[in-house]
Amino acid sequence: MMNPYTASLFLNQDALADFEKQIRVFKQKRQKVFVLLDDHTRYFCWPLIQAYFIEIQNDTMFVEIPHGEENKNLDQLQSIWKQLTKAGAGRDAVLINLGGGVITDLGGFAAASYKRGITTIHFPTTLLAMVDAALGGKTGIDFEGYKNHIGAFYQPQKVYVLTDFLKTLPERQWKSGLGELIKYGFLTAKGIKPLENFSFLQNQQLQETIIEAAQFKLNVVAEDPTENGMRKILNFGHTIGHAFESFAMSKQQMLMHGEAVAAGIVAELYLSVKLKGLKIYVLEEYISFYRLHFEPFKIVASDVSNLLEIISHDKKNRGGELLLVCINSNEKPVFDVPIEPEQLRECLIWYSELF
Ligand SMILES: NC(=O)c1ccc[n+]([C@@H]2O[C@H](COP(=O)([O-])OP(=O)(O)OC[C@H]3O[C@@H](n4cnc5c(N)ncnc54)[C@H](O)[C@@H]3O)[C@@H](O)[C@H]2O)c1
Repeated sequence: MMNPYTASLFLNQDALADFEKQIRVFKQKRQKVFVLLDDHTRYFCWPLIQAYFIEIQNDTMFVEIPHGEENKNLDQLQSIWKQLTKAGAGRDAVLINLGGGVITDLGGFAAASYKRGITTIHFPTTLLAMVDAALGGKTGIDFEGYKNHIGAFYQPQKVYVLTDFLKTLPERQWKSGLGELIKYGFLTAKGIKPLENFSFLQNQQLQETIIEAAQFKLNVVAEDPTENGMRKILNFGHTIGHAFESFAMSKQQMLMHGEAVAAGIVAELYLSVKLKGLKIYVLEEYISFYRLHFEPFKIVASDVSNLLEIISHDKKNRGGELLLVCINSNEKPVFDVPIEPEQLRECLIWYSELF
């Protein structure tokens, strides 16, 4: 029986072959198909899959939004609902989301809420969306200044990963995805090995790493869809990473989500050494990797109090206790590791002296 908490994941040739079959089903059932995209993905990504829609072109409609996080909002959601309504989309309509995490989050939520749920399919086009945002069923919009404030868990029927989309991805976006991709290395006890020879060029190894990471996330989500236990490991690097992200934002510094996670991993590996006996060479290797691929995110000692304040509001904390994901001495992830504010302070001071 299909697990309602996971989508089916397909890569490259398999994805295109499955999508071809899928198109025939849409045609046979005369389903209306809507393609949600932004101005960038319409220009760069749509041409790569356009040919597959020829058979159903009379029943295919575009819903286009401007690119960027600032458009993951209620106005755009309403505009999608309106366009579906105007085009007479019924409960059998299909919404295909072609884009990065903004499109898959917004489109996923539009599909979840329109007529109490219509079929949705993701074509993630950024590295971050391929290994993270398009998987796991978290959908939603930003609201009143709060990120992902309104949303729902809603699974896409299928996720098609086509790594050719990455050819046009700007370098900064690559780095943001790389931060999340590294995280899976630590969650699967491989560390940085799969990415040691990483380059922004397409290669077989990178494709395998992407699909392994994506499949790993789907398996974890299937085991713990509502994040009561195991799914928490996906937050590795994120407690301190999110604090760096919020801190940078408050100072109008540009730090992308995955870049913040990559920096957060430095600090959380340090805590893993201190609290869980992780071998120090794992931390040292990662610091070299981080220096090589990222412009290190810098803080000074006087920033530490601010960062501690931000972390104390982290939604992953329970009953006033700070909880963290660490990597243990066997290089396996462990969640709900309690941490004292003093240990955190010491870690951040160490980090401030490192870069
Ligand atoms: N639902 C989840 O589990 C989850 C997890 C992580 C992140 N997210 C969300 O994902 C969003 C970030 O996603 P993102 O990093 O993919 O950013 P994004 O969707 O904003 O895309 C980044 C930029 O790249 C452009 N772009 C996309 N694909 C391209 C391509 N192939 N070639 C050229 N340009 C391309 C987009 O138009 C955009 O300008 C955030 O809103 C975040 O909250 C969700």
